[in-house]
Amino acid sequence: MSLKFIKNYSIMPIIPPQNVAMKLFLDTANLDQVREIASWGILDGVTTNPSLVAKEEGADFKETVMAMCGLVNEVSAQVTGETFEEMKVQAEQYSSWHKNVVVKVPMTVEGLKTLNYCTSKGIHTNTTLVFSVSQAIMAAKSGATMISPFVGRLDDLGEDGMDLIADIMKAWEHYKFDTQVLVASVRNLDHVTRAATLGAHISTIPYKVFKVLPQHDLTDKGLKKFMEDWESVQSK
Ligand code: G3P
Repeated sequence: MSLKFIKNYSIMPIIPPQNVAMKLFLDTANLDQVREIASWGILDGVTTNPSLVAKEEGADFKETVMAMCGLVNEVSAQVTGETFEEMKVQAEQYSSWHKNVVVKVPMTVEGLKTLNYCTSKGIHTNTTLVFSVSQAIMAAKSGATMISPFVGRLDDLGEDGMDLIADIMKAWEHYKFDTQVLVASVRNLDHVTRAATLGAHISTIPYKVFKVLPQHDLTDKGLKKFMEDWESVQSK
């Protein structure tokens, strides 16, 4: 090995990672589920929506959201108004609850007006029900903090929902939007894997799928063998 090579090698900079890893959100309105997954130490956020909230009978929405904000950095709470005026009031109300609240706004014209308003007020937003690149671009131009393309619901129609994520990520390469792409309506492990390989910024994952993420048959088999071998050493 030449001295020159060693010299060059010794001054080679450590290349920093291109980006932080994809953020992992839990898609739920159930506080116990958030407590459990947050205890793993890798949960970045939670997304709720009116349908998920409806499943948690008797739970107070504001209390649930605030408790979740104590566990993770970003909690999406969806407005239910239909007009800009209605959504604006709710956006102000939700964002006053806790600094970790992200106001979830539907991808409608009234929603775009709300997104622009929230951007001007420094309120973080998540644009929900995104099904096309044109919708994604309009939400990004409105300054949305994140957009939620629903992949599972496109799969339900016989399309490949992840194609939409690929197209949006391609558009983002050209325009360098700050808006984060949050893969929503995730139904299986493959959605999460493909979201990561496409460089999506966030995946929001239902509890059942989240529980599958740390698992692999070969990990279980390998660990069983290690333990058996360790036992045999102890008994000698
Ligand atoms: O985050 C959006 C998600 O909750 C929608 O999922 O399964 O109802 O399409 P799904």
